[in-house]
This record gives sequence, structure tokens and C-alpha cells, in this order.
Amino acid sequence: AIDLTGRHFLKELDFTAEEFRGLIDLAAELKAAKKAGTETQRLRGKNIALIFEKASTRTRCSFEIAAADQGASTTYIDPAGSHIGSKESAKDTARVLGRMFDAIQFRGDAQSTVEELGAYAGVPVYNGLTDDWHPTQMLADVLTMTEHSTKPLTDIAFAYLGDARFNMGNSYLITAALLGMDVRIVAPKAYWPADEIVARARELAETSGARITLSEEIAGGVAGADFVVTDVWVSMGEPKEIWAERIEALAPYAVTMDVLRATGNADVKFLHCLPAFHDLGTQVGREIHAQYGLSSLEVTDEVFESAHSVVFDEAENRLHTIKAILVATLA
Ligand code: CP
Ligand code: NVA
Repeated sequence: AIDLTGRHFLKELDFTAEEFRGLIDLAAELKAAKKAGTETQRLRGKNIALIFEKASTRTRCSFEIAAADQGASTTYIDPAGSHIGSKESAKDTARVLGRMFDAIQFRGDAQSTVEELGAYAGVPVYNGLTDDWHPTQMLADVLTMTEHSTKPLTDIAFAYLGDARFNMGNSYLITAALLGMDVRIVAPKAYWPADEIVARARELAETSGARITLSEEIAGGVAGADFVVTDVWVSMGEPKEIWAERIEALAPYAVTMDVLRATGNADVKFLHCLPAFHDLGTQVGREIHAQYGLSSLEVTDEVFESAHSVVFDEAENRLHTIKAILVATLA
């Protein structure tokens, strides 16, 4: 079994490919044990702090339920509920919480904040999403891909459509490069990941055997893909004024049935980290509809609700994979 005792998870590259795959295997074991009712508690007496500077449904609940299943306790610190960042620095917060807790989860804007917590806490720190990376999401997505494919991981091809300059795009590119997968970033050039991230991915690919494609062209980019993946076009913390520009640039890259057909793969699966804008069931959705006349953005409701969509398996897998991180670093 994998042992990552005391380790941080601040970004995907904190782990080797072998360690990353070990976490996926552990998550699959923990998932099977929970379903069979044979899960054993390995984290009794542990206390985990959950710092959220931004909203969350899946990440927060996954940490809370994973900890509870394993016998650990959690303290949820909401965006307004602590001094971090306003009256107290990340460095001081880290040294205080490190005296009380066995591990700390942080979600917020700056990668530098989670890195600073990691440098001073003296206990494992987990990145629950920053502007740059969403590493716990990558564990869930890779587990979901392995569950919905008969191929070995290194044979799996996926295409990410949309804004690839932010956390999800960066994380997909680097994760695929680390694990030796076939990844296609399909977006207007201005929305591709930063040059240094692409360079790092190409460097990783030399040893992992990953195939890396960046393309503005949809049909060619998705051809042969096993999975089509997207994310919201406007992320948490971005201003409303950006909507018009994003819609204009990214509208051709919305995941529609035509995009799925262009893969040439009748069994193609659709992934989305969620939340998604695919119907008018949200306040933001209704605002976009009123202003731009659109009832979906990055994915159509038809795709989202189709048999191709495995987004709720993916969401459930946040729990099992976050539990794997806790067990591997704290048990
Ligand atoms: N995918 C994800 O991180 O969801 P939450 O924002 O609900 O945590
Ligand atoms: N890119 C999105 C991901 C949400 C899980 C955001 O940062 O809001």
C-alpha cells in the first residue's frame, strides 16, 4: 500500500507518476470497501482544518465525509470565518493551525498562499483549488477515466475544450503529461496554458510517453478521444464584465452532440468538474440567459443529460480520492 506520510499535495507534481497511480489504486480500494460495508477506520483521533476562501460543494463535503468515514474530525472555516488574509498572514495562520490540527486543506485564489501554509504548518497541507491548480480534482478524474475505459491509463486519450489557462486546463495538461496519457487542449490560442506550463508538460512527456496536442481546431483535436472534458468559462472570483468576451471567444468550443460525434467514438464519455452551466436551473444561468439569450454555455443540456455523461460518477469520486489522500498522508 502507498505511504505518503506527512506529505503535502499542493500541486500534481508533488507526486511521482507511481505515487499518483498509487493514490488512484488506494481510492478504488476505499471505494469498494465503503460499498461493501467493510471500510476500516484508520484516522481515528485525527483533526483536519478546512480553510475555504471561496465557495465549494464537492470539495468541502468530500473532505468532511471522507474524514468522518475514517473516524477523523474536521473544522470548516468559511470565507468570512477566520482572520486568514485579512488580519493574520498565511504564515502565522499556518503556525497556529499546525499546533492544533493534523492536516490543513486550503481553497483560495493564490497558489502562493497554499505554498506558504505548506512551508510553515508542519503538517500536511492539501490544495483544494487555487487559480493555478486543482490537484484533488485530478485524482477523481483519473479514477473516473479508469472506471469508464477498458484501456490502460497510458492509452487513454482526452480532449479538454474551453479556457485552458486556469486551474482545470493547467491541471489536465500536467496530469496527463505526468501519467503518460494522450491529452489535447482544444481552445483559441489565447486560451492555451502559459508557455512555461506547456514546456514543463513536454519535458515530462519525454519520460512518460505522453502525447501532447494544443489545437484551435475542434474536429481534429477531438478525433479518437475517449473522453471530452470542459469547465466553466468564467471561474470563481472573475468579474462579471468578462462574460461577453469569454462567450464570444469560446462559443465554438461548447461541448455539443456534434463535438462528441466528431470524436468518431460511439462510446465517448463526457466529464466536467462541476458546477456546470447547462440549463436555466441556476441564478447565474438565468442572468446569462437574460443578457445573452443563451441557455447553456460550455456544455449543452443534451450532452450533460446523455448516456455519454459520467459527471456524477466523477463527483462521487471526489470523496473516494480525497479519502485516499487523507489515508495515505495521515494514517
Ligand atoms: N469540482 C469542485 O471542486 O467542486 P466544488 O467547487 O463544489 O468544490
Ligand atoms: N475553474 C473553476 C473550477 C471550479 C471547480 C473555478 O475555478 O471556479
